Amino acid sequence: YKRITVKSLIDMKEHNEKISMLTAYDYSMAKIVDGAGIDVILVGDSASNVMAGHETTLPITLDQMIYHASSVIRAVNRALVVVDLPFGSYQSDPKEALRSAIRIMKESGAHAVKLEGGKEIKESIKRILHAGIPVMGHLGLTPQSIYKFGTYTVRAKEEEEALKLIEDAKLLERAGCFAIVLEKIPAKLAKEVAESVSIPIIGIGAGNGVDGQVLVLHDLLGMTHEFHPRFLRRYLNLYDEMTGAISQYVDDVKSKDFPNDDEQY
Ligand code: KIV
Ligand code: NA
Repeated sequence: YKRITVKSLIDMKEHNEKISMLTAYDYSMAKIVDGAGIDVILVGDSASNVMAGHETTLPITLDQMIYHASSVIRAVNRALVVVDLPFGSYQSDPKEALRSAIRIMKESGAHAVKLEGGKEIKESIKRILHAGIPVMGHLGLTPQSIYKFGTYTVRAKEEEEALKLIEDAKLLERAGCFAIVLEKIPAKLAKEVAESVSIPIIGIGAGNGVDGQVLVLHDLLGMTHEFHPRFLRRYLNLYDEMTGAISQYVDDVKSKDFPNDDEQY
């Protein structure tokens, strides 16, 4: 294998090779995802929902993100590992943002960080980049702002927000970001953004005109049950498969079928 770097991703865009990205939050899953050949692993703050059961991404802490990231890093040989800066760890000022990014890099061994927002956080992004830490942007439906939006519906359907998004994407490129995630915006707008910057645009619910795709691993595996956005393709139905396996185990214990003669010392 050859390790994926931020440079590899920019080369992929140049050569029109799509970038594959998935989340992972722990060692065992990251090992499988990396071994399967994913390009980028995102230690997303969606861990707040998926791993901790919170309703939003807001409660997860920097310490908890570092715990998830260090577990993932121990498993990965090939993928580029990007870690979300959680809500509250970068918004107040650029120094705090840099401190948080440095903690993630030092304490987990991650390769890059991701921050939500455009113009508002430009100085923070520059400061982090000046320290030599690669930054991925995130625009569109940015879940850390869910209480500002009020709903998880598609963003940038109106011209004003669409124009700001295009400006923000260009600004992130100029600032030096190596890639941008676009979440839940019209496919036509996402394509336009991908064509107007030279850094890779990685979409989730942003259509097929972008440079790569990202999904939450547990959604792709069908482990999450009550979540059916249009953009989600489920490759397995692990929720039902796991329920079947575990209830079979319960039955086998109750019926004294497990363990059998070969399964003991
Ligand atoms: O936290 C996350 O999983 C994300 C992706 C959905 C892009 O930010
Ligand atoms: Na996130």
